[in-house]
Amino acid sequence: MTEQKISIHGVWGSRWTFILAATGSAVGLGNIWKFPYITGENGGGAFVLVYLFCIALIGIPIMMAEVLLGRQGRQSPINTMRELVRETGTHKSWKLLGWVGAIAGFLILTYYSVIAGWSLNYVYEMGSGTFSGKDGQQVGSIFDELLANPKQLLFWHSLFMVMVTVVVAQGVIKGLEKAVRILMPLLFLLLILLVGYALSTDSFGRGFAFLFHVDFSKMTWSAALTALGHAFFTLSLGMGAIMVYGSYMPKKASIGGTVLMVAALDTLVALVAGLAIFPIVFSNGLAPGAGPGLMFITLPHAFGNMGFGQLFGTLFFVLVTFAAWSSAISLIEPAVAWVVERFKVNRGLATVMLCFLAWFVGLGTVFSFNLWAEMTLAGFTVFDGLDFLTANIMLPLSGLFIALYVGWVLPQQRVKSELALSQSVLYQLWRFVLRFLAPLAVLIVFMVPLYEKFAG
Ligand code: TRP
Repeated sequence: MTEQKISIHGVWGSRWTFILAATGSAVGLGNIWKFPYITGENGGGAFVLVYLFCIALIGIPIMMAEVLLGRQGRQSPINTMRELVRETGTHKSWKLLGWVGAIAGFLILTYYSVIAGWSLNYVYEMGSGTFSGKDGQQVGSIFDELLANPKQLLFWHSLFMVMVTVVVAQGVIKGLEKAVRILMPLLFLLLILLVGYALSTDSFGRGFAFLFHVDFSKMTWSAALTALGHAFFTLSLGMGAIMVYGSYMPKKASIGGTVLMVAALDTLVALVAGLAIFPIVFSNGLAPGAGPGLMFITLPHAFGNMGFGQLFGTLFFVLVTFAAWSSAISLIEPAVAWVVERFKVNRGLATVMLCFLAWFVGLGTVFSFNLWAEMTLAGFTVFDGLDFLTANIMLPLSGLFIALYVGWVLPQQRVKSELALSQSVLYQLWRFVLRFLAPLAVLIVFMVPLYEKFAG
């Protein structure tokens, strides 16, 4: 039976490696760059609350389902789904799940690398003291100049993609495991340092209130869709990243406990990032709703005007880059694992080919900030469009189908064999959420904004 299955790509040394790797995947630009700026754009507290609900009620149960699928299949998500469909005689359209996932991950990587490139650029700029003593406007125009300069964006995007290629090419055990062991603890250390700084500003209370004071009059359905999409994005759900990491998870490790830990760490980092960023935003009289530039404009401004700002600022962007790195690795891993299995090529070659392709498609995002800024489809630039399509559509949809597959289609026997608590109330609860609550919630949050858009 499934007991004997082992992934050809390796097995994690222990449950802790899975926790580190999955946390490395989950904690990334989503937590530090995206969460604060979409929270700022959507008014704060109420949005945060909806997001927390989405994590707890939809994200965690679906994450468990994804890990479970990976451990059942022990292959790339594409072949895991193919195998499960074959073994259990379920309808073959479920195989699509693996495909949608791998494609979504690939597409996310194409723009993720460009944003991570901004962060690399800021390590350099911070380190060389570019922001020292600059006012908000000057810092803002430095950011605008970066976006307007395709050559510079291209350089950093390329460098980041090379970093990803190097780690992924070395393989799961050597590359990923080593990388996350070093990167993750460092990341936590640096974040704590930053909150310490935020505490020393005069606006910690305001930043705190912005994040946690709930005012539902600011909430809209499209904000709820953003919160839901972000819950998937930040937990790395719905594209096989967690599935593929699950496929390297030792059989005896508990899925529920492990997933809870990862989700808790991820949420903690996002909230802590918010607590570090918003006090600085307010103490400098900056706007929380500044958009994607929030982190890249407000923070350098603050760092540029504080004691040891050059040091803290450089550290901060090093941290962001590390976080993005360990996430980007997981975006391409499902596709790499599949190419290795399907074409029997070695891992290095598969990685180089796929990363090159992602780099090339990423040029679209690079140019969407300058040369192609006017080129829009339904109001979306290439970057906006990719972000919306992947985070708000592909991830929730594929999450929905993962819930339905594990809740309704996959034989109970298999589900129970993966979970230690198969007799308990918790198990019943989880099953209920997968079968009814999560699909319904996704459908509602998904349909209402579309309905409003086209009916109104
Ligand atoms: N979770 C990461 C972040 O917050 C991004 C990410 C990595 C991701 N792998 C993923 C998002 C898989 C969706 C699916 O930055």
